[in-house]
Amino acid sequence: MTDARPTVAIDGPASSGKSSVGAAAARELGYRFCDTGLLYRALTGLALKSGIDLSDPVGLVPLVAQVELASDGDGRLSRVMVDGVDVTAEVRGPAVDRSVSEVARVPEVRAALLERQRALAADGGIVMAGRDIGTVVLPDADLKVFLDASAEERARRRAEERGLEPDSSEAARILADLRRRDDLDRNRPVAPLRAAADATVIATDGNTFDQTVAAVVAAIRAAETRRIEATASAPAAAPASAAVPAPAAAPASAVVPISAPPPGPGKGRPKPLGDGRTWFIRATDVFGRIVWRVFARVHLSGFEHLRAIDGPVLIVANHISNADPPLIGSFVTPALDRRIYWLGKQEALDWPVLGALIEHNAVIGIQRGAADVDAFRSAKRVLDERHVLIVFPEGTRSPTGRLQEAKEGTTILALRTGARLVPIGVSGTRDVWPRGQKLPHPIRGRVSLTVGEPFTVSAPGAGAERRAAQVAATTEIMRRIAELLPPEQRGFYADAVARTGAPGGPDGDPVR
Ligand code: DC
Repeated sequence: MTDARPTVAIDGPASSGKSSVGAAAARELGYRFCDTGLLYRALTGLALKSGIDLSDPVGLVPLVAQVELASDGDGRLSRVMVDGVDVTAEVRGPAVDRSVSEVARVPEVRAALLERQRALAADGGIVMAGRDIGTVVLPDADLKVFLDASAEERARRRAEERGLEPDSSEAARILADLRRRDDLDRNRPVAPLRAAADATVIATDGNTFDQTVAAVVAAIRAAETRRIEATASAPAAAPASAAVPAPAAAPASAVVPISAPPPGPGKGRPKPLGDGRTWFIRATDVFGRIVWRVFARVHLSGFEHLRAIDGPVLIVANHISNADPPLIGSFVTPALDRRIYWLGKQEALDWPVLGALIEHNAVIGIQRGAADVDAFRSAKRVLDERHVLIVFPEGTRSPTGRLQEAKEGTTILALRTGARLVPIGVSGTRDVWPRGQKLPHPIRGRVSLTVGEPFTVSAPGAGAERRAAQVAATTEIMRRIAELLPPEQRGFYADAVARTGAPGGPDGDPVR
Protein backbone atom coordinates (compact mmCIF):
# COMPACT_ATOMS: atom_id res chain seq x y z
CA MET A 1 0.00 0.00 0.00
CA THR A 2 1.35 3.39 -0.89
CA ASP A 3 1.98 5.72 2.01
CA ALA A 4 0.46 9.07 1.20
CA ARG A 5 2.61 10.91 3.73
CA PRO A 6 5.51 13.05 2.56
CA THR A 7 8.90 11.91 1.41
CA VAL A 8 11.56 13.76 3.37
CA ALA A 9 15.18 14.22 2.28
CA ILE A 10 17.75 15.19 4.90
CA ASP A 11 21.20 16.06 3.63
CA GLY A 12 24.21 17.59 5.27
CA PRO A 13 27.93 17.20 5.85
CA ALA A 14 29.53 14.46 7.93
CA SER A 15 28.57 14.57 11.62
CA SER A 16 25.91 17.22 11.08
CA GLY A 17 23.49 14.92 12.90
CA LYS A 18 21.41 13.95 9.83
CA SER A 19 21.13 10.31 10.83
CA SER A 20 20.43 10.74 14.54
CA VAL A 21 18.13 13.74 14.03
CA GLY A 22 16.41 12.13 11.03
CA ALA A 23 15.85 8.88 12.93
CA ALA A 24 14.50 10.71 15.99
CA ALA A 25 12.12 12.82 13.89
CA ALA A 26 10.97 9.71 11.99
CA ARG A 27 10.35 7.90 15.28
CA GLU A 28 8.33 10.77 16.66
CA LEU A 29 6.10 10.94 13.59
CA GLY A 30 5.94 7.20 12.83
CA TYR A 31 7.80 7.50 9.52
CA ARG A 32 10.25 5.00 8.10
CA PHE A 33 13.87 6.07 8.18
CA CYS A 34 16.80 5.24 5.93
CA ASP A 35 20.44 6.17 6.41
CA THR A 36 21.95 5.93 2.91
CA GLY A 37 25.50 6.63 4.13
CA LEU A 38 25.48 3.06 5.41
CA LEU A 39 25.36 1.77 1.84
CA TYR A 40 28.55 3.64 0.95
CA ARG A 41 30.13 2.62 4.21
CA ALA A 42 29.35 -1.09 3.80
CA LEU A 43 30.72 -1.03 0.28
CA THR A 44 33.90 0.63 1.52
CA GLY A 45 34.27 -1.92 4.32
CA LEU A 46 33.91 -4.74 1.81
CA ALA A 47 36.44 -3.18 -0.57
CA LEU A 48 38.96 -2.65 2.22
CA LYS A 49 38.58 -6.28 3.30
CA SER A 50 38.90 -7.66 -0.21
CA GLY A 51 41.81 -5.36 -1.08
CA ILE A 52 39.90 -3.79 -3.97
CA ASP A 53 41.16 -0.44 -5.24
CA LEU A 54 38.85 2.21 -3.75
CA SER A 55 38.58 4.11 -6.99
CA ASP A 56 38.12 1.16 -9.34
CA PRO A 57 34.52 0.84 -10.60
CA VAL A 58 35.17 -2.59 -12.10
CA GLY A 59 36.06 -3.96 -8.67
CA LEU A 60 33.52 -1.93 -6.69
CA VAL A 61 30.24 -2.19 -8.62
CA PRO A 62 29.84 -5.99 -8.31
CA LEU A 63 30.09 -5.59 -4.50
CA VAL A 64 26.85 -3.58 -4.46
CA ALA A 65 24.80 -6.79 -4.72
CA GLN A 66 26.22 -8.04 -1.40
CA VAL A 67 25.10 -4.99 0.56
CA GLU A 68 21.65 -4.60 1.99
CA LEU A 69 20.03 -2.17 4.43
CA ALA A 70 18.08 -3.77 7.25
CA SER A 71 15.47 -2.62 9.72
CA ASP A 72 16.29 -2.17 13.38
CA GLY A 73 12.91 -3.77 14.05
CA ASP A 74 11.25 -0.38 14.47
CA GLY A 75 10.83 0.60 10.83
CA ARG A 76 14.21 2.31 10.62
CA LEU A 77 16.66 1.15 7.96
CA SER A 78 19.59 2.02 10.18
CA ARG A 79 21.47 -1.25 9.99
CA VAL A 80 23.50 -2.62 7.12
CA MET A 81 24.16 -6.23 6.20
CA VAL A 82 26.86 -7.71 4.02
CA ASP A 83 25.97 -11.20 2.85
CA GLY A 84 23.44 -11.45 5.66
CA VAL A 85 25.85 -10.38 8.43
CA ASP A 86 25.19 -7.16 10.38
CA VAL A 87 28.26 -4.95 9.90
CA THR A 88 26.76 -1.64 11.11
CA ALA A 89 29.13 -1.10 14.05
CA GLU A 90 32.16 -2.13 12.03
CA VAL A 91 31.50 0.23 9.12
CA ARG A 92 31.07 3.18 11.46
CA GLY A 93 34.68 2.78 12.62
CA PRO A 94 37.68 5.00 11.75
CA ALA A 95 39.05 2.81 8.93
CA VAL A 96 35.88 3.21 6.87
CA ASP A 97 35.55 6.85 7.99
CA ARG A 98 38.85 7.65 6.36
CA SER A 99 38.17 5.87 3.06
CA VAL A 100 34.45 6.18 2.37
CA SER A 101 34.53 9.55 0.60
CA GLU A 102 36.89 8.07 -1.95
CA VAL A 103 34.44 5.26 -2.79
CA ALA A 104 31.50 7.69 -2.80
CA ARG A 105 33.24 9.72 -5.53
CA VAL A 106 33.05 6.90 -8.05
CA PRO A 107 30.19 7.71 -10.50
CA GLU A 108 29.50 4.05 -11.33
CA VAL A 109 29.08 3.25 -7.64
CA ARG A 110 26.63 6.10 -7.20
CA ALA A 111 24.68 5.01 -10.27
CA ALA A 112 24.53 1.42 -8.99
CA LEU A 113 23.04 2.60 -5.67
CA LEU A 114 20.64 5.17 -7.10
CA GLU A 115 17.66 3.02 -8.09
CA ARG A 116 17.93 1.09 -4.87
CA GLN A 117 17.55 4.26 -2.81
CA ARG A 118 14.68 5.50 -4.99
CA ALA A 119 12.85 2.20 -4.65
CA LEU A 120 13.08 2.43 -0.85
CA ALA A 121 11.44 5.85 -0.90
CA ALA A 122 8.85 5.12 -3.57
CA ASP A 123 6.03 4.49 -1.11
CA GLY A 124 6.40 7.80 0.80
CA GLY A 125 6.23 8.22 4.58
CA ILE A 126 10.00 8.07 4.82
CA VAL A 127 12.86 10.23 6.06
CA MET A 128 15.95 9.51 3.97
CA ALA A 129 19.33 10.85 5.08
CA GLY A 130 22.45 11.31 2.97
CA ARG A 131 24.41 13.83 0.93
CA ASP A 132 22.54 14.01 -2.39
CA ILE A 133 19.03 12.93 -1.46
CA GLY A 134 17.38 16.29 -2.15
CA THR A 135 19.50 17.02 -5.22
CA VAL A 136 19.81 13.67 -7.00
CA VAL A 137 18.09 10.70 -5.36
CA LEU A 138 14.72 12.33 -4.62
CA PRO A 139 14.62 15.64 -6.49
CA ASP A 140 10.80 15.65 -6.07
CA ALA A 141 10.84 15.03 -2.31
CA ASP A 142 7.98 16.81 -0.51
CA LEU A 143 10.43 18.27 1.96
CA LYS A 144 14.17 18.80 1.72
CA VAL A 145 16.12 19.65 4.82
CA PHE A 146 19.79 20.57 4.81
CA LEU A 147 21.36 20.29 8.24
CA ASP A 148 24.46 22.37 8.51
CA ALA A 149 27.01 23.20 11.20
CA SER A 150 30.53 24.56 11.14
CA ALA A 151 33.35 22.01 10.93
CA GLU A 152 34.53 23.14 14.40
CA GLU A 153 31.12 22.50 15.94
CA ARG A 154 30.81 19.09 14.30
CA ALA A 155 34.33 18.11 15.38
CA ARG A 156 33.60 19.28 18.92
CA ARG A 157 30.45 17.09 19.07
CA ARG A 158 32.36 14.08 17.76
CA ALA A 159 35.20 14.57 20.23
CA GLU A 160 32.70 14.92 23.06
CA GLU A 161 30.94 11.71 21.98
CA ARG A 162 34.26 9.90 22.18
CA GLY A 163 35.16 11.47 25.55
CA LEU A 164 38.20 13.36 24.18
CA GLU A 165 39.66 16.57 25.57
CA PRO A 166 38.78 19.46 23.21
CA ASP A 167 42.42 20.48 22.74
CA SER A 168 43.87 16.96 22.48
CA SER A 169 45.71 15.84 19.37
CA GLU A 170 42.93 13.29 18.66
CA ALA A 171 40.37 16.11 18.66
CA ALA A 172 42.54 18.08 16.26
CA ARG A 173 42.72 15.02 14.03
CA ILE A 174 38.93 14.67 14.03
CA LEU A 175 38.64 18.26 12.82
CA ALA A 176 41.26 17.74 10.11
CA ASP A 177 39.51 14.51 8.96
CA LEU A 178 36.14 16.22 8.84
CA ARG A 179 37.55 19.07 6.77
CA ARG A 180 39.12 16.61 4.37
CA ARG A 181 35.85 14.65 4.01
CA ASP A 182 33.87 17.86 3.55
CA ASP A 183 36.24 18.87 0.83
CA LEU A 184 35.98 15.52 -0.95
CA ASP A 185 32.17 15.37 -0.60
CA ARG A 186 31.67 18.97 -1.72
CA ASN A 187 34.03 18.95 -4.64
CA ARG A 188 33.44 15.57 -6.23
CA PRO A 189 32.26 15.79 -9.83
CA VAL A 190 29.15 13.62 -9.40
CA ALA A 191 26.39 14.47 -6.90
CA PRO A 192 28.49 16.79 -4.76
CA LEU A 193 27.27 17.69 -1.31
CA ARG A 194 25.19 20.86 -1.50
CA ALA A 195 21.82 22.12 -0.35
CA ALA A 196 19.08 21.80 -2.99
CA ALA A 197 17.77 25.17 -4.14
CA ASP A 198 14.42 24.42 -2.48
CA ALA A 199 15.86 22.96 0.74
CA THR A 200 15.11 24.28 4.20
CA VAL A 201 18.56 24.93 5.64
CA ILE A 202 18.79 24.40 9.39
CA ALA A 203 22.01 25.65 10.96
CA THR A 204 22.56 23.63 14.11
CA ASP A 205 25.50 25.48 15.72
CA GLY A 206 24.52 26.14 19.30
CA ASN A 207 21.37 23.96 19.09
CA THR A 208 20.75 21.07 21.43
CA PHE A 209 19.89 17.76 19.78
CA ASP A 210 16.27 18.09 20.91
CA GLN A 211 15.98 21.57 19.43
CA THR A 212 17.15 20.34 16.05
CA VAL A 213 14.78 17.36 16.16
CA ALA A 214 11.91 19.72 17.05
CA ALA A 215 12.78 21.96 14.09
CA VAL A 216 12.79 18.99 11.70
CA VAL A 217 9.54 17.59 13.14
CA ALA A 218 7.91 21.01 12.69
CA ALA A 219 9.10 21.17 9.08
CA ILE A 220 7.70 17.68 8.38
CA ARG A 221 4.37 18.57 9.99
CA ALA A 222 4.16 21.66 7.81
CA ALA A 223 4.88 19.48 4.75
CA GLU A 224 2.09 17.11 5.81
CA THR A 225 -0.31 20.03 6.03
CA ARG A 226 0.71 21.34 2.60
CA ARG A 227 0.16 17.90 1.16
CA ILE A 228 -3.26 17.49 2.74
CA GLU A 229 -4.27 20.93 1.52
CA ALA A 230 -3.07 20.15 -1.98
CA THR A 231 -5.00 16.87 -1.94
CA ALA A 232 -8.10 18.54 -0.63
CA SER A 233 -8.12 21.14 -3.37
CA ALA A 234 -7.12 18.76 -6.20
CA PRO A 235 -10.05 17.29 -8.13
CA ALA A 236 -10.36 13.60 -7.28
CA ALA A 237 -9.66 11.17 -10.08
CA ALA A 238 -12.63 9.32 -11.48
CA PRO A 239 -12.72 5.68 -10.46
CA ALA A 240 -11.52 3.37 -13.20
CA SER A 241 -14.69 1.35 -13.04
CA ALA A 242 -17.04 4.29 -13.42
CA ALA A 243 -18.82 4.01 -16.75
CA VAL A 244 -20.23 7.53 -16.50
CA PRO A 245 -18.56 10.49 -14.86
CA ALA A 246 -19.74 11.44 -11.39
CA PRO A 247 -22.24 14.26 -11.56
CA ALA A 248 -20.88 17.68 -10.69
CA ALA A 249 -22.94 17.78 -7.51
CA ALA A 250 -21.22 14.70 -6.10
CA PRO A 251 -18.68 15.59 -3.41
CA ALA A 252 -15.12 15.50 -4.69
CA SER A 253 -14.32 12.75 -2.24
CA ALA A 254 -17.26 10.54 -3.19
CA VAL A 255 -15.13 8.49 -5.54
CA VAL A 256 -12.99 7.22 -2.69
CA PRO A 257 -14.16 3.72 -1.85
CA ILE A 258 -14.92 3.77 1.84
CA SER A 259 -16.79 0.93 3.51
CA ALA A 260 -19.48 1.28 0.87
CA PRO A 261 -18.90 -1.03 -2.07
CA PRO A 262 -17.12 0.52 -5.03
CA PRO A 263 -19.39 1.59 -7.89
CA GLY A 264 -20.45 -1.34 -10.04
CA PRO A 265 -20.65 -1.22 -13.82
CA GLY A 266 -23.01 1.48 -14.96
CA LYS A 267 -22.98 3.30 -11.62
CA GLY A 268 -21.23 6.65 -11.52
CA ARG A 269 -20.73 7.05 -7.79
CA PRO A 270 -20.94 5.06 -4.58
CA LYS A 271 -24.09 4.93 -2.51
CA PRO A 272 -24.53 7.91 -0.20
CA LEU A 273 -23.59 7.19 3.40
CA GLY A 274 -26.43 6.01 5.60
CA ASP A 275 -28.10 8.26 8.12
CA GLY A 276 -29.82 7.76 11.47
CA ARG A 277 -29.21 5.22 14.20
CA THR A 278 -29.63 1.62 13.07
CA TRP A 279 -31.07 -0.94 15.45
CA PHE A 280 -27.54 -2.29 15.79
CA ILE A 281 -26.11 1.07 16.85
CA ARG A 282 -28.97 1.53 19.31
CA ALA A 283 -28.40 -1.93 20.78
CA THR A 284 -24.65 -1.35 21.10
CA ASP A 285 -25.23 1.97 22.84
CA VAL A 286 -27.71 0.49 25.31
CA PHE A 287 -25.28 -2.30 26.08
CA GLY A 288 -22.41 0.19 26.39
CA ARG A 289 -24.32 2.43 28.80
CA ILE A 290 -25.24 -0.53 31.00
CA VAL A 291 -21.61 -1.66 31.17
CA TRP A 292 -20.37 1.86 31.94
CA ARG A 293 -22.94 2.42 34.65
CA VAL A 294 -22.20 -0.90 36.32
CA PHE A 295 -18.45 -0.53 36.25
CA ALA A 296 -17.76 3.20 36.66
CA ARG A 297 -19.23 6.43 38.01
CA VAL A 298 -19.99 8.36 34.84
CA HIS A 299 -20.35 12.14 35.10
CA LEU A 300 -22.00 13.81 32.13
CA SER A 301 -22.33 17.52 31.61
CA GLY A 302 -23.12 19.97 28.85
CA PHE A 303 -25.36 17.45 27.10
CA GLU A 304 -27.93 20.17 26.46
CA HIS A 305 -25.61 21.32 23.66
CA LEU A 306 -26.36 18.13 21.75
CA ARG A 307 -30.06 18.79 21.38
CA ALA A 308 -31.38 19.42 17.89
CA ILE A 309 -28.13 20.00 16.06
CA ASP A 310 -28.61 19.44 12.37
CA GLY A 311 -26.31 19.77 9.36
CA PRO A 312 -22.69 18.66 9.24
CA VAL A 313 -21.20 18.28 12.71
CA LEU A 314 -17.57 17.66 13.58
CA ILE A 315 -17.16 16.39 17.13
CA VAL A 316 -13.64 17.02 18.42
CA ALA A 317 -12.41 15.30 21.56
CA ASN A 318 -9.23 14.74 23.51
CA HIS A 319 -7.97 11.16 23.45
CA ILE A 320 -6.40 9.43 26.41
CA SER A 321 -7.53 5.82 26.33
CA ASN A 322 -9.02 3.05 24.20
CA ALA A 323 -12.05 3.45 26.44
CA ASP A 324 -12.82 6.92 24.98
CA PRO A 325 -14.64 5.77 21.81
CA PRO A 326 -16.99 3.34 23.63
CA LEU A 327 -17.69 5.99 26.27
CA ILE A 328 -18.44 8.74 23.77
CA GLY A 329 -20.34 6.41 21.46
CA SER A 330 -22.58 5.00 24.22
CA PHE A 331 -23.62 8.36 25.66
CA VAL A 332 -23.29 10.97 22.92
CA THR A 333 -24.94 9.02 20.07
CA PRO A 334 -28.34 8.66 21.78
CA ALA A 335 -28.23 12.23 23.11
CA LEU A 336 -27.56 13.52 19.61
CA ASP A 337 -29.97 11.01 18.09
CA ARG A 338 -27.83 10.90 14.97
CA ARG A 339 -25.37 8.36 13.67
CA ILE A 340 -21.77 9.34 14.46
CA TYR A 341 -19.15 8.33 11.92
CA TRP A 342 -15.69 7.37 13.12
CA LEU A 343 -12.45 6.87 11.23
CA GLY A 344 -10.68 3.64 12.11
CA LYS A 345 -7.91 1.40 10.90
CA GLN A 346 -8.97 -0.82 8.02
CA GLU A 347 -7.11 -3.74 9.66
CA ALA A 348 -9.53 -3.61 12.59
CA LEU A 349 -12.49 -3.81 10.23
CA ASP A 350 -10.99 -6.88 8.64
CA TRP A 351 -10.89 -8.81 11.92
CA PRO A 352 -13.37 -11.68 11.99
CA VAL A 353 -16.61 -10.94 13.91
CA LEU A 354 -15.26 -7.93 15.86
CA GLY A 355 -14.48 -6.20 12.56
CA ALA A 356 -18.11 -6.51 11.47
CA LEU A 357 -19.29 -5.15 14.84
CA ILE A 358 -17.00 -2.16 14.46
CA GLU A 359 -18.09 -1.52 10.88
CA HIS A 360 -21.76 -1.68 11.83
CA ASN A 361 -21.05 1.08 14.31
CA ALA A 362 -20.30 3.47 11.47
CA VAL A 363 -16.53 3.16 11.55
CA ILE A 364 -14.95 3.98 8.20
CA GLY A 365 -11.83 1.97 7.45
CA ILE A 366 -8.69 3.89 6.58
CA GLN A 367 -5.87 2.11 4.83
CA ARG A 368 -2.91 2.29 7.14
CA GLY A 369 -0.24 3.46 4.73
CA ALA A 370 -2.39 6.15 3.17
CA ALA A 371 -3.58 7.39 6.54
CA ASP A 372 -3.55 11.15 6.10
CA VAL A 373 -4.95 11.64 2.65
CA ASP A 374 -7.36 8.72 2.81
CA ALA A 375 -8.59 9.86 6.21
CA PHE A 376 -9.03 13.42 5.02
CA ARG A 377 -11.06 12.41 1.99
CA SER A 378 -13.23 10.02 3.96
CA ALA A 379 -13.80 12.61 6.67
CA LYS A 380 -14.67 15.29 4.15
CA ARG A 381 -17.13 12.99 2.47
CA VAL A 382 -19.00 12.41 5.74
CA LEU A 383 -19.33 16.14 6.33
CA ASP A 384 -20.06 16.98 2.71
CA GLU A 385 -22.96 14.54 2.97
CA ARG A 386 -24.06 16.47 6.09
CA HIS A 387 -23.49 13.76 8.69
CA VAL A 388 -21.78 13.74 12.08
CA LEU A 389 -18.11 12.82 12.33
CA ILE A 390 -15.88 12.51 15.36
CA VAL A 391 -12.13 13.06 15.26
CA PHE A 392 -9.36 13.28 17.81
CA PRO A 393 -7.32 16.29 16.67
CA GLU A 394 -4.21 15.15 18.54
CA GLY A 395 -4.02 12.19 16.16
CA THR A 396 -3.19 9.59 18.80
CA ARG A 397 -3.83 8.86 22.45
CA SER A 398 -1.86 11.24 24.63
CA PRO A 399 1.04 9.40 26.27
CA THR A 400 0.74 11.60 29.37
CA GLY A 401 -3.02 12.08 29.52
CA ARG A 402 -2.50 15.82 29.00
CA LEU A 403 -3.50 17.58 25.78
CA GLN A 404 -0.79 17.40 23.14
CA GLU A 405 -0.26 19.80 20.29
CA ALA A 406 -2.92 19.14 17.65
CA LYS A 407 -2.35 18.43 13.99
CA GLU A 408 -3.82 20.87 11.49
CA GLY A 409 -5.93 18.27 9.64
CA THR A 410 -9.01 18.81 11.80
CA THR A 411 -8.89 22.56 11.30
CA ILE A 412 -8.52 22.26 7.54
CA LEU A 413 -11.46 19.86 7.52
CA ALA A 414 -13.63 22.27 9.51
CA LEU A 415 -12.63 25.18 7.27
CA ARG A 416 -13.25 23.25 4.05
CA THR A 417 -16.65 21.88 5.05
CA GLY A 418 -17.99 24.69 7.23
CA ALA A 419 -19.11 22.01 9.71
CA ARG A 420 -20.20 22.99 13.18
CA LEU A 421 -17.69 21.85 15.79
CA VAL A 422 -18.78 20.30 19.05
CA PRO A 423 -15.97 20.01 21.62
CA ILE A 424 -15.85 17.12 24.09
CA GLY A 425 -13.54 16.69 27.08
CA VAL A 426 -12.92 13.21 28.45
CA SER A 427 -11.22 12.44 31.73
CA GLY A 428 -10.80 9.42 33.95
CA THR A 429 -10.75 6.81 31.16
CA ARG A 430 -7.02 6.29 31.53
CA ASP A 431 -7.70 4.64 34.88
CA VAL A 432 -10.30 2.41 33.29
CA TRP A 433 -8.11 1.40 30.37
CA PRO A 434 -4.51 2.58 30.72
CA ARG A 435 -2.38 3.01 27.63
CA GLY A 436 -0.25 -0.02 26.89
CA GLN A 437 -2.64 -2.47 28.60
CA LYS A 438 -4.40 -5.07 26.48
CA LEU A 439 -7.63 -5.07 28.50
CA PRO A 440 -9.61 -2.57 30.58
CA HIS A 441 -9.68 -2.52 34.38
CA PRO A 442 -13.29 -1.69 34.85
CA ILE A 443 -14.17 -1.16 38.52
CA ARG A 444 -12.17 2.07 38.86
CA GLY A 445 -13.64 5.38 39.86
CA ARG A 446 -15.10 8.21 37.98
CA VAL A 447 -15.03 9.15 34.32
CA SER A 448 -16.24 12.50 32.98
CA LEU A 449 -17.67 13.36 29.63
CA THR A 450 -18.20 17.08 29.12
CA VAL A 451 -19.75 18.61 26.02
CA GLY A 452 -19.05 22.23 25.10
CA GLU A 453 -20.99 24.75 23.09
CA PRO A 454 -21.03 24.24 19.29
CA PHE A 455 -18.96 26.75 17.32
CA THR A 456 -17.49 27.31 13.89
CA VAL A 457 -14.06 28.47 12.74
CA SER A 458 -12.98 30.65 9.85
CA ALA A 459 -9.65 31.62 8.33
CA PRO A 460 -10.10 34.65 6.10
CA GLY A 461 -7.46 36.27 3.93
CA ALA A 462 -4.80 34.67 1.78
CA GLY A 463 -1.20 33.52 2.02
CA ALA A 464 0.54 34.21 5.32
CA GLU A 465 -2.53 35.90 6.75
CA ARG A 466 -4.71 32.88 6.07
CA ARG A 467 -2.04 30.56 7.39
CA ALA A 468 -1.86 32.52 10.66
CA ALA A 469 -5.66 32.42 10.91
CA GLN A 470 -5.56 28.65 10.44
CA VAL A 471 -3.04 28.26 13.25
CA ALA A 472 -5.24 30.46 15.44
CA ALA A 473 -8.27 28.32 14.54
CA THR A 474 -6.42 25.18 15.65
CA THR A 475 -5.62 26.81 18.97
CA GLU A 476 -9.25 27.87 19.30
CA ILE A 477 -10.50 24.32 18.68
CA MET A 478 -8.09 22.89 21.23
CA ARG A 479 -8.79 25.66 23.75
CA ARG A 480 -12.48 24.78 23.58
CA ILE A 481 -11.62 21.17 24.41
CA ALA A 482 -9.11 22.18 27.09
CA GLU A 483 -11.75 24.27 28.85
CA LEU A 484 -13.79 21.12 29.36
CA LEU A 485 -10.92 19.33 31.09
CA PRO A 486 -9.56 19.61 34.61
CA PRO A 487 -6.63 22.09 34.65
CA GLU A 488 -4.01 19.35 35.10
CA GLN A 489 -5.14 17.74 31.83
CA ARG A 490 -4.94 20.85 29.64
CA GLY A 491 -1.29 20.31 28.77
CA PHE A 492 -0.17 22.17 25.65
CA TYR A 493 -3.29 24.39 25.69
CA ALA A 494 -3.24 25.36 29.38
CA ASP A 495 -1.96 28.83 28.50
CA ALA A 496 -4.61 29.31 25.82
CA VAL A 497 -7.30 28.64 28.44
CA ALA A 498 -5.55 30.85 30.99
CA ARG A 499 -5.55 33.74 28.51
CA THR A 500 -9.35 33.62 28.28
CA GLY A 501 -9.70 33.39 32.06
CA ALA A 502 -11.89 30.28 31.95
CA PRO A 503 -12.64 28.72 35.33
CA GLY A 504 -11.23 25.30 36.18
CA GLY A 505 -12.61 21.96 35.25
CA PRO A 506 -15.81 20.18 34.38
CA ASP A 507 -18.61 19.57 36.78
CA GLY A 508 -21.80 17.59 36.44
CA ASP A 509 -23.89 15.18 38.40
CA PRO A 510 -23.07 11.55 38.50
CA VAL A 511 -25.30 9.52 36.25
CA ARG A 512 -26.30 6.24 37.81
O1 DC B 1 26.54 10.03 6.38
P1 DC B 1 27.83 9.16 6.47
O2 DC B 1 28.96 9.89 7.13
O3 DC B 1 27.55 7.83 7.10
O4 DC B 1 28.23 8.91 4.95
C1 DC B 1 29.35 8.17 4.61
C2 DC B 1 29.90 8.63 3.29
O5 DC B 1 29.02 8.29 2.25
C3 DC B 1 30.17 10.10 3.17
O6 DC B 1 31.54 10.32 3.00
C4 DC B 1 29.45 10.56 1.97
C5 DC B 1 28.88 9.34 1.33
N1 DC B 1 27.47 9.49 1.04
C6 DC B 1 27.15 9.98 -0.19
O7 DC B 1 28.03 10.33 -0.96
N2 DC B 1 25.85 10.07 -0.56
C7 DC B 1 24.88 9.72 0.29
N3 DC B 1 23.60 9.81 -0.08
C8 DC B 1 25.20 9.24 1.58
C9 DC B 1 26.52 9.16 1.92
